[in-house]
Amino acid sequence: MKILVTGGAGFIGSNFVHHMVKKYPEYEIVNLDLLTYAGNLESLRDIENEPNYKFVRGDIADRPFIMQLFEKERFDIVVNFAAESHVDRSITDPGIFVQTNVMGTQVLLDASKAYGVKRYHQVSTDEVYGDLPLDRPDLFFTETTPLHTSSPYSSSKASADLFVLAYYRTFGLPVTISRCSNNYGPYHFPEKLIPLMIIRALDDEKLPVYGKGENVRDWLHVEDHCAAIDLIIHNGRVGEVYNVGGHNERTNLEVVKTILKALDKPESLINYVTDRPGHDLRYAIDPTKLETELGWKPQYNFDTGIAQTIEWYLTHKEWWQRIVSGEYSNYFEAMYGERLK
Ligand code: NAD
Ligand code: DAU
Repeated sequence: MKILVTGGAGFIGSNFVHHMVKKYPEYEIVNLDLLTYAGNLESLRDIENEPNYKFVRGDIADRPFIMQLFEKERFDIVVNFAAESHVDRSITDPGIFVQTNVMGTQVLLDASKAYGVKRYHQVSTDEVYGDLPLDRPDLFFTETTPLHTSSPYSSSKASADLFVLAYYRTFGLPVTISRCSNNYGPYHFPEKLIPLMIIRALDDEKLPVYGKGENVRDWLHVEDHCAAIDLIIHNGRVGEVYNVGGHNERTNLEVVKTILKALDKPESLINYVTDRPGHDLRYAIDPTKLETELGWKPQYNFDTGIAQTIEWYLTHKEWWQRIVSGEYSNYFEAMYGERLK
């Protein structure tokens, strides 16, 4: 079995590559990544010399390159993680989100169709469903919740999902889609809430909380997401969408306070800053379909997962310090400089 993993140098992709390389020594895992600011091969150091693993640098939206790669490699399965993934960046510069997330997906779909791929899996997000009100804890996203996006990021992901489903219906391409809630865990790029707060708190720096910090996210440990995708590509029904989430809803303020407490840092580090435009209020996934059809069960709850994650950042300082000292510093200044003054 030969599997193409796109975006395998990013946060979830690198965790998925680890999972697959270790669990399936008989498979060939090819990691295709453009190495944008979010791609980091240091996240794959411990498996880079494994005989069942190979890295290829390239752009999923580069049609001639992708066609040549598929012609040469003849993949059985494609798992597409490659994307621009940060909502705030999509507000600053939407164009690259259309280019990578929509056009790139369509190139991969064409290549999968042309070269008879047996399963194309699209890694999507709960953000395609929009948001839920804060005062209706009884409401959850199911696979039939209408798509209703808020940001350029979520709009690009929803658009890609519609192309994936169109290639199933029109061309019979054997596709599956997973829509997961917020992930956290090792190798999470420190522009996202949890790693950003951990590393800034460690340095006693101000913690920028958007608005009142009352927005709710449904947190899932990245290993549980990887296990779900593994199940779906092997046992999921083609043409189907599977929601992935573990019922771990927390307000942003609860998350930040949990991190501060674990690090023994004062809550006075919290700084309320201008809200994200169009900020989604609450995400909450109903994972019943994945649980009942495929027997998926998360291994972590938020308390065990966040403790493991904080420990990981404490014991892998060299991993994130290299990011902080590089391009990331310029990005942070551009994104927060004015807001933290
Ligand atoms: P990430 O930003 O950490 O990683 C994205 C990776 O894609 C990087 O390695 C980057 O170099 C690569 N990439 C970007 N453009 C590319 C291109 N044109 N060609 C090839 N590679 C390219 O993202 P992530 O958080 O790991 O998310 C991975 C996927 O999972 C995305 O599709 C995202 O929408 C989805 N998702 C993320 C979450 C989350 O909480 N992070 C939750 C649900 C779904
Ligand atoms: O729900 C899945 C999505 O989760 C994925 O599809 C996205 O790729 C991923 O980035 C994530 O999106 P969010 O916008 O929810 O994640 P982020 O970490 O950027 O923000 C989480 C919450 O924290 C959100 O309500 C905004 C808030 N926030 C974020 C940052 C970076 C802050 O208050 N301060 C911050 O500095």
